[in-house]
Amino acid sequence: MNALCDPLATALARRGPFSLEDVDAYRRWSERKLRDYPNAIDKLVVEVRDPRSLSPSERGALADRCRRANMAVYASCIDLADKQIPRALGRQFGLARLDGNWLADDDGISRIEVSAAQPRSEFIPYSDRPISWHTDGYYNAPPLRVRSLILHCVRPAAEGGDNALLDHEMAYLLLREQNPEYVRALSAPDAMTIPERCDEHGVARSEQTGPVFFVDSPGGRLYMRYTARTRSIRWRSDAATRAAVACLESILANSPAVLRTRLGAGMGLLCANVLHNRSGFVDAPQVPRLMFRARYHDELLLYNHEQPLFNGRGDNQHGI
Ligand SMILES: [Fe+2]
Repeated sequence: MNALCDPLATALARRGPFSLEDVDAYRRWSERKLRDYPNAIDKLVVEVRDPRSLSPSERGALADRCRRANMAVYASCIDLADKQIPRALGRQFGLARLDGNWLADDDGISRIEVSAAQPRSEFIPYSDRPISWHTDGYYNAPPLRVRSLILHCVRPAAEGGDNALLDHEMAYLLLREQNPEYVRALSAPDAMTIPERCDEHGVARSEQTGPVFFVDSPGGRLYMRYTARTRSIRWRSDAATRAAVACLESILANSPAVLRTRLGAGMGLLCANVLHNRSGFVDAPQVPRLMFRARYHDELLLYNHEQPLFNGRGDNQHGI
């Protein structure tokens, strides 16, 4: 079937590594990906003096990790509860358009902590319970895609609250190596449907149907929308989708490409909305776990030629 007429082909690029038809490009990309992918969490960690104002070498080291694994972990000694930390860090990677989801604070950055107040108390992120595998904003409409994410730790839990992480490009690669038809199934425009969410006023968010894997950026980068939840989700009801979802679940449970970390105070995750989860945790009553979460519609800018680079204060670092 002509790819232009094939609805299953519309979510992925027609050329390049994420095209099922362009096997040569995929092979070159996958060989490089496997060679460069960090096989230990330590290789993702970059020590920085101040995330709000990175030195050129610190920024370069974070960009290098993100180019290889779509994620990096920064470690600093700054343990302030200052939202300027994720905001200024993001700006240095071209991130400006925050996803103002309904539970975010007015400034678009969420305080992720245990909350007894409605409506946050009804949602797992604001509890001490585990959160299963997902990418952020999988229920968002296409204009509000979440392409980048910063998770900054102000205070860790007394126990637990670990994150497992998997580069979504590695998930794509591992699925395609098992069976390219898994990728085709999960790229279908109707692969995954998240039903509408209603509140006392009616429909608060409309139903969202879309692919799991998609390429929707000028740079041709791959993105993913996924949740391991089993309620309030409808998978396309065919054998190919069921098999692909089962294979993805197995990869998430067993792959050595999954990296695990426990962010400490002053540390954070900078990523292209990779797959992640969170273990349950126990808070110390006087110093409960507090994370700042910033979700962006923008792509991470990782190459100097993409646009001039700015530091967190808005000054131009390169004199351009
Ligand atoms: Fe998340």
